[in-house]
Amino acid sequence: MTPRGNINLAQRPPGFIFRKSRNGVLSRSANLVLHCEHIPLTRIAERYGTPLYVYSASAIRERLAAYTAAFRNVSHTVCYSVKANSNLSILRLLAREGCGFDVVSGGELQRVLTADRRAAKKVVFSGVGKTRAEMTVALKAGILLFNVESESELWALAECAAQLRTTARVALRVNPDVAANTHPYISTGLRKHKFGVPMRESRALYAKASVARSLEVAGVSVHIGSQIKEMPPFDETMSRVADLVRQLREDGHNIEYVDAGGGLGIDYEKPNLAEFANYVSKYAAAVMNPLRGLKVHLLLEPGRSIVGPAGALITRVIYKKSNEGKRFLVVDAAMNDLIRPSLYDAYHQIVPVIQSGGASTGKEKFDVVGPICESGDFLAHDRELPTVEEGDLLAILDAGAYGMALASNYNTRPRAAEVLVSGKTAKAIRKRERVADLMRGEL
Ligand code: LLP
Repeated sequence: MTPRGNINLAQRPPGFIFRKSRNGVLSRSANLVLHCEHIPLTRIAERYGTPLYVYSASAIRERLAAYTAAFRNVSHTVCYSVKANSNLSILRLLAREGCGFDVVSGGELQRVLTADRRAAKKVVFSGVGKTRAEMTVALKAGILLFNVESESELWALAECAAQLRTTARVALRVNPDVAANTHPYISTGLRKHKFGVPMRESRALYAKASVARSLEVAGVSVHIGSQIKEMPPFDETMSRVADLVRQLREDGHNIEYVDAGGGLGIDYEKPNLAEFANYVSKYAAAVMNPLRGLKVHLLLEPGRSIVGPAGALITRVIYKKSNEGKRFLVVDAAMNDLIRPSLYDAYHQIVPVIQSGGASTGKEKFDVVGPICESGDFLAHDRELPTVEEGDLLAILDAGAYGMALASNYNTRPRAAEVLVSGKTAKAIRKRERVADLMRGEL
């Protein structure tokens, strides 16, 4: 395979790779076709329709393995953050690899238990608004740790645990007041954010918690935000956490766990996947160095960095149109399928699934938009793309995290199907919704 044009940039090995297509799917053998592992996306789109989320099992496994390798020198558990992509088959795949889970709702917990009942003992439960009903289910399931975010929540949990005559293992999620240099909507570690307990007040709260007989103080947790690509905020945060652990131990608490949260970013514009292992090692150093000598069990909650580049949203061009010279590609995926561009102004690389060789590789600028009735419905603005025709397939890359998970039914659009590829096999892991599914439950 000879990379040409932007093809190199567009590859996401081992998940998404341009290969010369065989199998008679294509008429011109000179074309390079984007494959998910060993299956041409043209074939998958033909079979399952579009818009379609396609994920690579190998990419997910490889990325999890990079975490495990980077943290091999410390006792740790990777608790994949379910919110990034909560499909049962993906959870099951991760559970089989020995992964734990970070959940933020009773619904997510139920998904984990459905995927693998035995994973309960590796579940951490985060979130500012856990209800008593949710806590009760989690206590009955025997989860590893509650990351408690306020005093009120602490007493609610104590009550629930007492009622069940059990004890809840708790960490306080502290707010370290560290800036994360990411989109304001996904930055969580500043005083002005709703998350966590102010670090300064946390010692007093630990003291109160340790008196409650149904609570077992066991750890400290923190999460400063998402899509963070620089290491200093992690380092700074963990230094503060390490100081707190020392103080808490002096106060007589048995702090076994430090939950470092998630947040490691990915490069949506120019990914260098060969560097991922190296990058995770740098992250691991930033997290582990401040904790050196403390002998804690480290919990990690990565979401995006595990599944993001392992997924793509495949869409078909319905129409090409231009309004006074402004050119649009109207595609069959929309903001209801992938809201990240509209909501966070996020950039996702978009490539034609078939890269034709030869002379027709002129570039044009397009807004790539969906059929939804608002101007906020776009997947890319002023995007330079090789010549694309109506009916062509496009792949919107790095859509494995916070893609399907944030999908909605706006404009009564059924949500996309999802397919998981492993080597030479592809299987549907979620059926395409039908309009009847959307109306069920309405009176
Ligand atoms: N732990 C906690 C407590 C979290 O709130 C989050 C993400 C994670 C772990 C996982 O973070 P990750 O490793 O995926 O960065 N919808 C946004 C991202 C929202 C992140 C919310 N919390 C987006 O599409 O960029």
